[in-house]
Amino acid sequence: MSLDNSIPVLELVGLERHFAGAGGTVRAADGVTLTVGRGEVVGLVGESGSGKSTVGRCAVRLDDPTGGAVRINGTDVTTLSRRALRPLRKDFHLVFQDPSSSLDPRMTVGEIIAEPLRLHGIAKNKEAAHARVRELLAQVGLRPEHADRHPHELSGGQRQRISIARALSVDPDLLVADEPTSALDVSVQASVLNLLADLQRDRGFGCLFITHDLSAVEYLADRIAVMYLGQIVEQAPTAELFANPKHPYTQALLSAAPVPDPVTQRTRERIVLSGELPSPLAPPPGCRFHTRCPLAVDRCRTEVPALRTLEGGREVSCHLVAEDGTAPDAAAASSPTSRTIPNTRTATR
Ligand SMILES: Nc1ncnc2c1ncn2[C@@H]1O[C@H](COP(=O)(O)OP(=O)(O)OP(=O)(O)O)[C@@H](O)[C@H]1O
Ligand code: SF4
Ligand SMILES: [Mg+2]
Repeated sequence: MSLDNSIPVLELVGLERHFAGAGGTVRAADGVTLTVGRGEVVGLVGESGSGKSTVGRCAVRLDDPTGGAVRINGTDVTTLSRRALRPLRKDFHLVFQDPSSSLDPRMTVGEIIAEPLRLHGIAKNKEAAHARVRELLAQVGLRPEHADRHPHELSGGQRQRISIARALSVDPDLLVADEPTSALDVSVQASVLNLLADLQRDRGFGCLFITHDLSAVEYLADRIAVMYLGQIVEQAPTAELFANPKHPYTQALLSAAPVPDPVTQRTRERIVLSGELPSPLAPPPGCRFHTRCPLAVDRCRTEVPALRTLEGGREVSCHLVAEDGTAPDAAAASSPTSRTIPNTRTATR
């Protein structure tokens, strides 16, 4: 572990992951710059197909970037071979959406959790490994006897607890969690999220938290990055982003999220985007969001908006956001049917 707290655990610099195929090049990640500080939780949100998992997989080098750079604890790992990466692997882990696919069904839970300890030579002997497994099981809310079971004997929630225990067994500095609860029953999602939040607070690992669940990201993340078609369009501290989304896409995304207050939920305005996410095979020219943006003007069709940093560290890429941060209101320009009821959330902005 690095002693310098100012070095981020994860730095993505202009990360690209293009997939070349017969039909052309899929620009799944197309210039993503993102930093996760030590002990920081960064949420990555965006609709299905926007490239979130691609970014997550490249960040832990389960996939190979085709451009840009990935640095972990200040070390450039972009092009390191599998072999060269091996000793560094204890610093970063990925927790997948579906724990069944990442847990070897032939191994016992104890073996699964102990495997990283063994690979990295962390447990001195068998007894030390057993003790660590019991400790980890307790930390994720399971009992010592679960160590002798096999993954298929457990519930989905328990399996995800085991993949979390495995990921944390070697005390990584970075955890990439890709929709860690979306494959679980709604009834157990909250408890697994709470567990992640508790462990993150206790252990202080940095986390890239990928999700569709805006209430989860609001609860867990210090900062949120919003992705659209392979790129980040806005990034801001969580509370600021929710209180005042500036990019029209962020405004649309948040307008679709449930709000705890039923009165607000009934009366607020939902921005309905027209059409589907365009294909990453041929992203629209100019602003990639222009084909669906209720506010698009002529220049949006030809001129790529730069990702600019505003005061307070917010980043946003939209021609209509002024230098002083004044932002347009996509709801006001959205279709008339979605405007019949006033939006209490945007009205106060
Ligand atoms: N191996 C691959 N070969 C070709 N295209 C790919 C590959 N992996 C991903 N893609 C494409 O890249 C784009 C981004 O996919 P990705 O899985 O990263 O999106 P996502 O934001 O994680 O979506 P979801 O929310 O559904 O999980 C999609 O268009 C997808 O079809
Ligand atoms: S640059 Fe234009 S199309 Fe893109 S988000 Fe801003 S207003 Fe919409
Ligand atoms: Mg995904």
